[in-house]
Amino acid sequence: MYKYIIYLFISLISVNIAYSDEGMWIPLLLSDRIEDMKSMGLKISAEEIYSINNSSIKDAIVLFGGGCTAEIVSPSGLILTNHHCGYSAIQSHSSIETDYLANGFWAMNKNEELPNPGLKVSILVKMEDVTDYVLKGVNSDLTEYKRNEIIEKNIAVIIKETTDKNHYEARVVPFYYGNQYYLIVSEVFTDIRLVGAPPSSIGKFGGDTDNWVWPRHTGDFSIFRIYADKNNKPAPYSPDNVPYQARKHLKISLKGYDEGDFTFVFGYPGTTNEYAPSYQISMIVFDENPVNIALREKRLNIIDKYMNKNQLTRIQYSAKYANIANYWKKMTGESKGLKATGAIEEKMNLEKQFQQWANTSPERIKKYSGVLPAFEYYYKQINPVNNTFNYFIEAGLGVEVIRFAWNFNSLVEMSKNKNVNDVDISNKVNTLKKSVTVFYKNYNADLDKEIFISLYEDYYKNVEKCYIPDEMAINVKKYRGDFNKWANKIFSESMFLCEKRVIDFLDSYKKNDYKKIEKDPVYKLTKSVYDVYFNKIIVPYKKLSISIDSLQRIYMAGLMEMMPQKQFYPDANSTLRVAYGKVQGFSPADAITYHWHTVLEGIIEKEDSTIYDYRVDDKLKELNSRKDYGPCSDKDGTMHVAFIASNHTTGGNSGSPVLNAYGELIGINFDRCWEGTMSDYYYDISKCRNISVDIRYCLFIIDKYAGAGYLLDEMTIVK
Ligand code: ARG
Ligand code: GLU
Repeated sequence: MYKYIIYLFISLISVNIAYSDEGMWIPLLLSDRIEDMKSMGLKISAEEIYSINNSSIKDAIVLFGGGCTAEIVSPSGLILTNHHCGYSAIQSHSSIETDYLANGFWAMNKNEELPNPGLKVSILVKMEDVTDYVLKGVNSDLTEYKRNEIIEKNIAVIIKETTDKNHYEARVVPFYYGNQYYLIVSEVFTDIRLVGAPPSSIGKFGGDTDNWVWPRHTGDFSIFRIYADKNNKPAPYSPDNVPYQARKHLKISLKGYDEGDFTFVFGYPGTTNEYAPSYQISMIVFDENPVNIALREKRLNIIDKYMNKNQLTRIQYSAKYANIANYWKKMTGESKGLKATGAIEEKMNLEKQFQQWANTSPERIKKYSGVLPAFEYYYKQINPVNNTFNYFIEAGLGVEVIRFAWNFNSLVEMSKNKNVNDVDISNKVNTLKKSVTVFYKNYNADLDKEIFISLYEDYYKNVEKCYIPDEMAINVKKYRGDFNKWANKIFSESMFLCEKRVIDFLDSYKKNDYKKIEKDPVYKLTKSVYDVYFNKIIVPYKKLSISIDSLQRIYMAGLMEMMPQKQFYPDANSTLRVAYGKVQGFSPADAITYHWHTVLEGIIEKEDSTIYDYRVDDKLKELNSRKDYGPCSDKDGTMHVAFIASNHTTGGNSGSPVLNAYGELIGINFDRCWEGTMSDYYYDISKCRNISVDIRYCLFIIDKYAGAGYLLDEMTIVK
């Protein structure tokens, strides 16, 4: 009995501890968390962080592009985000003559700032709980299909009412898997100009080698400016636009931080699945991640081999490689972390508890007792479909020319359609011509052929026969399983392997020429791969996903009912959130301890001119040898580069401000430690840390390295 009481006591404590740093909270409801935040060190009020009536920190946090966060740091719309978030904008202005990726870019006055067509920044105007309105007319007897139909109609009405007679954009987003709905109203700015970016040897220092890894020395920041019309309203790019006059900008702190200091991250986390059942975690750990990791590894090894052989290939494939490698590495860490923390067992324990609870009253039995068995059933059903889906994405579409040839499908369909006129066809042809130039600029056919041989052989061997594309089955038979021979044949015969042939073909395109596309061996294969996807994968996948989603909604509601005293944070869904924690090192494995910050000296230590990721700029070395850090040095006299903290973050939080107890900017979030990347499913404070670049290092680079100190004059810098 005594033992039992102690055990109960310990498990209650561990529940409390586990939840104190975990969570991405809705800023509107921060009053529920404010006591906990204050007990950890916060010195400002919930109202100062989020307020609808007064200007608050939330007004300085923006959604940058599709999937990053940025923060306003001057009254004239200057924003900071990560270098990797600004990467494609920086790349778009780069050429051999002006290689801003390699050399960096610094506007020395506003006239030199560069516009970026297509880049958007959204500023949240307000968010509001609209659950009652969205669920009007919905009851538990409806089919999922009918339920969704009613919800969609209700949402359309809300959005129309909200955006009528104003320039705002609105969306309604499900929270807790559709148990709640929030209206998100934003102002979307479309004239965003590039102000500054360090060279990649600073902004991407460590590259893919260090990606997701601590200790880290990446100066991962870039600077942009929001422009508005004369009335401070969003407007498309125009030379007459003026810098946006911000309602609020963040103060920047030079004070630094110590281990144990309170911090919070304010930003737009993308997706998490914290309430997933054990069945989903098992599927990820044992089926999904291993397949995806293995297929990506094959691709990466081949690309790497070609990049090492040839300088042009290295340039052509570095961004592609980084993209593939980013989630390859994340999945590896995630699987490892889920296993190491016993996430599946933890989830199973919770499920056992849930099932017992669900069986205790007739009403609960009716609502909840079937949820877990149904989860088990549906995950068993979806697993093989999901596996095939992953092969389709990672192997089928892992071959570049297959993805490219698919662009021609709409031209074929349009050409076959009697109602489509010649003007539409010629517009389509022109769009395709543009994509042709873009594609071949960064394409190496030998490399792609090797990937094709490797991935398609895997696809054929590992995917159930009924999901094998016809064209694959026919050719495997024809070439007696020799993928090399098959590859040689199609890669030499298809027009898609030759830029000139494709251009000539498009230049003289007539409606009837679609037959030539249909006869092309690469196109034929592409079509056949997609046919399996459309006819055999997507329908069952969607159907099963709808069932799983509805179970997840009921399970979530049940968990909340079972633990009424616990505050549940909703999974990330690209809406504004606050995460809080402390600056803190950790121990990733036996006998290894990670320190909580890195210094500039560490860059010099890592320098290796023979490794691309570890090149160090001469000027940076010189500044370091003079210890010329100005007011940006830490009180210990060193230049801090990056630090880790226990804030619960995910993809989308890149570029998010890391703020101290007073709401002042001390860093920019850009990554997580590899050992804790399972936090998208299971957060464990002993292993999960977010990685941020120290704001003082950013200011030092802007001022001392780039000589763009005039930008600092715009900012509010506090000691
Ligand atoms: N891991 C970070 C994120 O998920 C940074 C990625 C960009 N950097 C890179 N070396 N690929 O986005
Ligand atoms: N680098 C990620 C991003 O672009 C953040 C890292 C993470 O997943 O936490 O959002």
